[in-house]
Amino acid sequence: MFSLKDRVAIVTGAARGIGQAIAIELARAGANVVVSDIIPGNATVNKIKALKRKAIYVKTDVSKKQDIENLFNKTIKQFKKIDILVNNAGIFVPAPSETLKEEDWEKTIDINLKGYFLCAQAAANHMLKRKKGVIINVASVAGLEGYAQGAAYCASKGGIVNLTNALAAEWGGRGIRVNSICPGVIETAMTKGMLADKKTKQGMLMKIPLKRTGKSIDIAGAAVFLASDASSYITGTEIVVDGGWTCSL
Ligand code: NAI
Repeated sequence: MFSLKDRVAIVTGAARGIGQAIAIELARAGANVVVSDIIPGNATVNKIKALKRKAIYVKTDVSKKQDIENLFNKTIKQFKKIDILVNNAGIFVPAPSETLKEEDWEKTIDINLKGYFLCAQAAANHMLKRKKGVIINVASVAGLEGYAQGAAYCASKGGIVNLTNALAAEWGGRGIRVNSICPGVIETAMTKGMLADKKTKQGMLMKIPLKRTGKSIDIAGAAVFLASDASSYITGTEIVVDGGWTCSL
């Protein structure tokens, strides 16, 4: 039921962090994986090959349509099909809203929201032909509630949550399931600076019933579940993986 044997998955932002953990765990469940990132992804490729699954790296800037076309063309050339897309590549540029630069707003929306849509669109153009496919969008608890100095990020992640609903409604009848995962505070390069500040970390731990910050691997299980037939009647929803951070929402 949870097996992904011989499925083909594209994971964006898979060179490190949450994307890397998802790519590896999809492979452990049996998938062959296309590792997509703007930075080199060879470490992830090698870890997947060590699991005796196939993997290639395709350099991609998800905010550029041409790069996305190249990513999907290379995937089809190598693996002949696409079963799973995990939209994960994202950035967080904290800034006071009153001085947030227009270019940082645009960059955040271009990568975090437009990039997710363009990749979903490219995936659907293959999946709709086979009437089969799964799209998983890594959103955030920042898509469910608002944080100071996070206007662009929260807007992009809220956008992803409802983009997920819209695509699920549109493509559900044609065989594609679309869901999102909303991680809480996960220890990655994105949160390293924030978590290095003891007071900030302590404040966060006070809000987390499970009393620890998350690891990338904590997100991967939800991705394997949503990619597999174990979730075949689930679409247009979000799985919150946050140690309970938002349980009082
Ligand atoms: P990370 O910074 O370690 O990983 C992000 C990856 O995306 C990097 O490998 C980076 O090179 C890649 N990337 C950035 N811009 C790109 C672009 N234009 N095109 C292609 N790839 C690009 O961060 P992390 O934490 O692993 O984040 C992964 C996802 O999880 C992001 O969407 C993030 O917003 C989300 N998330 C992370 C949380 C956390 O606490 N770390 C909490 C909630 C959501």
